[in-house]
Amino acid sequence: MNASVRAPSPAPSGPLQVVILAAGKGTRMRSRLPKVLQPLAGRPLLAHVLDTAHELRDARCVVVVGHGAQQVREAFAAQPGLRFCEQSPQLGTGHAVQQACPQIDDAGIVLVLYGDVPLVRAQTLQPLLDAAESGALAVLTARLPDPSGYGRIVRDPEGRLLRIVEHKDADARERTIDEVNSGILAAPAQALKRWVWQLRNHNAQQEYYLTDVVQLAQAEGLAVHGVLAPDAEELLGVNDRLQLAQIERQAQRRQAERLMREGVTLLDPQRIDVRGELRCGQDVRIDVGCVFEGRVELGDDVVVGPHCVLRDCSIGAGSRIEAFSHVDGARCAEGVRIGPYARLRPGSELAREVHVGNFTEVKNSTLGEGSKANHLSYVGDASVGARVNIGAGTITCNYDGAAKHRTVIEDDVFIGSDTQLVAPVRVGRGATLGAGTTLTLDAPAGKLTLSRARQLSIDGWQRPTKKSSN
Ligand code: UD1
Ligand code: CA
Repeated sequence: MNASVRAPSPAPSGPLQVVILAAGKGTRMRSRLPKVLQPLAGRPLLAHVLDTAHELRDARCVVVVGHGAQQVREAFAAQPGLRFCEQSPQLGTGHAVQQACPQIDDAGIVLVLYGDVPLVRAQTLQPLLDAAESGALAVLTARLPDPSGYGRIVRDPEGRLLRIVEHKDADARERTIDEVNSGILAAPAQALKRWVWQLRNHNAQQEYYLTDVVQLAQAEGLAVHGVLAPDAEELLGVNDRLQLAQIERQAQRRQAERLMREGVTLLDPQRIDVRGELRCGQDVRIDVGCVFEGRVELGDDVVVGPHCVLRDCSIGAGSRIEAFSHVDGARCAEGVRIGPYARLRPGSELAREVHVGNFTEVKNSTLGEGSKANHLSYVGDASVGARVNIGAGTITCNYDGAAKHRTVIEDDVFIGSDTQLVAPVRVGRGATLGAGTTLTLDAPAGKLTLSRARQLSIDGWQRPTKKSSN
């Protein structure tokens, strides 16, 4: 091989440092919660921005906090490697980046993101990073039908980016420009640090505008790229609850599309809400109006009926969750049937082929293979064996007003309807409990146990009759 035709090896790219601006007050949210902690698809806005940063590559993130700084720090305290800096008072976006400077290394590049712009995709940001790697300043822009309020992108006749003018500083002609500044930019770290200290606040808002780095870069003869985002919707920011709701719909639509691409059938992709992480096997079918919270795993061929809520649970392959069921903190093996109108609470573990039917509640209990509690029962703090039949209206009385006690029901037990099991109590293997039993002592294996007053029929008894009033 001829060494002379080999392409030069690319310059080693320095570290990526991401500065996330999140100090603003978010006045229009009218909330006690700092804006970047408002939930989007079940997680704080800031978490989505951090996810995007980490998707790019091994990024080091610094979050500029101000309003509600303590709350924001606490909410993300568990995030390893995440750093914060405080901006007080808030004197503008350029001033915010100044506060982060002590935490920015000269080597590598800096990407500036906004904590309240959560939908921007990593692939949209990549061209900015490439430009910054090559020594340029790159600004992400968008075309908006209604550009009012945004900073406008001023280009020369050749299309080169000259400067960014804020709406409040723009003249009538500049206000007709429909290409706007997203606020997101990337630059070589050393240059950006140099520029932000040269910013002046001689403008309508007397703020230090980060956008003025464009002119500083021009003055140094550096290339400035205005990168037009293909989809302006990615750059929408959250300023009030209306925009939060719009962005929520978009985030939900994205998740729905991802699920369908992965092979999940959604009967209506507009009527599903995933507030956390939903993982699905193949040929899962999800009917309308379902809400998934936390981490939910559905195995192959699982069918979820309409209007179910599933939170932090896993459902084995081939299972069916029928309409209006609520599953929270439960683990279900393959082939279970839940609902309609069933409730599984935390600590419920269902083995294969278990059926939990309408108006049955299960809490902190295990049900062995093939067991059934099909109607109107409460199974709490119980260990239920395999092939047990729990009749309608059965209740484990697990609480004595002070402490919880366990009920043990061994394999192949048959429990007649309307039975109360006063815990702690044990039902031996193969036992049968007669309907209406109040079980206060252990029931021996293989026998019929019942507690029931003998049935009487009274001869000659007469039903009272009403006396006529006249
Ligand atoms: C900014 C841009 C504008 C752009 C718009 C896009 C400047 C000067 N203007 O304007 O060109 O079109 O975003 O939405 O940059 N922040 C701080 N500290 C501050 C001020 C702001 O951390 O002192 C944070 C905010 O929390 C927010 C972001 O920076 O996340 C943007 O601030 P905001 O006040 O909304 O900027 P705009 O005036 O809308
Ligand atoms: Ca804004």
